Amino acid sequence: MSKIKVGVIGTGFIGPAHIEALRRLGNIDVVALADVDEETAKEKAAQLSIDNYYGDYRKLLADSAIQSVHICTPNNLHYQMAKEALEAGKHVVCEKPLAITVAEAEELVELAEKEGLANAVHFNIRYYPLIRQMKMMVENGDIGDIYAIHGSYLQDWLFYATDYNWRLEPELSGKSCAIADIGSHWIDLIEYISGRKIVELFADFATFHKIRKKPLKPLETYAGKILKPEDYADIPINTEDYATVLFKFDTDARGVLTVSQVAAGRKNRLYFEMDGSNRAVAWDSENPNYVWIGRRDGNNEQLMKDPSLVFPEVRELISFPGGHNEAFGDTSKQLFKEFYAVVATGKVSQQPLYPSFEAGLRETVLCEKILESNEKRQWIKV
Ligand SMILES: NC(=O)c1ccc[n+]([C@@H]2O[C@H](COP(=O)([O-])OP(=O)(O)OC[C@H]3O[C@@H](n4cnc5c(N)ncnc54)[C@H](O)[C@@H]3O)[C@@H](O)[C@H]2O)c1
Repeated sequence: MSKIKVGVIGTGFIGPAHIEALRRLGNIDVVALADVDEETAKEKAAQLSIDNYYGDYRKLLADSAIQSVHICTPNNLHYQMAKEALEAGKHVVCEKPLAITVAEAEELVELAEKEGLANAVHFNIRYYPLIRQMKMMVENGDIGDIYAIHGSYLQDWLFYATDYNWRLEPELSGKSCAIADIGSHWIDLIEYISGRKIVELFADFATFHKIRKKPLKPLETYAGKILKPEDYADIPINTEDYATVLFKFDTDARGVLTVSQVAAGRKNRLYFEMDGSNRAVAWDSENPNYVWIGRRDGNNEQLMKDPSLVFPEVRELISFPGGHNEAFGDTSKQLFKEFYAVVATGKVSQQPLYPSFEAGLRETVLCEKILESNEKRQWIKV
């Protein structure tokens, strides 16, 4: 059986997670990677056992054997790389955010449609099996009319002023840090599960570390050593490390989200509760194999991820029996499984199961509205 040939651009944190997930599918051959320069690409190719490597992504795109490309680079590069990949006739899976402006995201949606190529944004959190279970509970009326959706996405990796990353630099990350980086996942998930659209929002941002200390040399150089004051530069920070956003949906439903990247002890906790007229549900990404189901009359329940307990359609996203936990790495595998099933048939649907560039555009629009609301200190219609 011939395998689909894939190239991956960017092999920092998430690129290797894509590669591992792709390899677990079986019908994919990751044939090449590209990174920022030849030396980095060579080193990564050796670590990841990939035959071909390029210090320039355009060379990867020029390889006619490659059918599909995954873009796993900093945010400011997504638009240009996705555009060129589509123009080179490749299917594209792009990391979030799809682009850093709405105009760029719109152009990518149009181009992908014109070229008839499969396109996805890596909103992998949708692919925890119990997320689809909750979506189906909403569709089946189990939750009833949704009154309120509230929750948070909390992390602590920017807790200290000495914590530093390209995500803090607007030229690389865009005008938003916490909302674009993690709030985007929460908002995508909420609209996906509830089927409701946000129509109005009010945002309040804070930047607790207004000056951060940027290491002047790569951190690895100092591994195990204590940095001295002269090893840092003071950098003013213009993007948020905290935000609260109020939402109104296209029904009577209301919502509120808190995101923070300075919440001590919270490593990567996406949490929400959805209160409906029949039941409530709650889910925590640090304990993703359980859903809490709240009832007014009778005992509350805890549903465990188990193929025999979920809706038949949800079983498609489960690889192992109950009690055998599935987690972060499995979500990408399940997303790519749906994506490459479409690529394999050659029939690109305009309304695929997986999050397409349309979902990426939606997040870009919402992010711009959130920024506008914070700047103007007022409710903004979407
Ligand atoms: N969906 C998720 O769960 C998830 C998780 C983490 C990151 N992300 C997204 O993935 C993207 C990358 O994040 P990361 O954490 O892996 O960042 P990272 O800094 O760890 O890795 C970025 C990689 O891109 C490479 N790169 C930079 N410029 C390049 C260029 N011009 N050509 C080729 N390669 C280049 C870097 O050398 C590095 O290997 C971001 O857009 C981020 O939002 C998504």
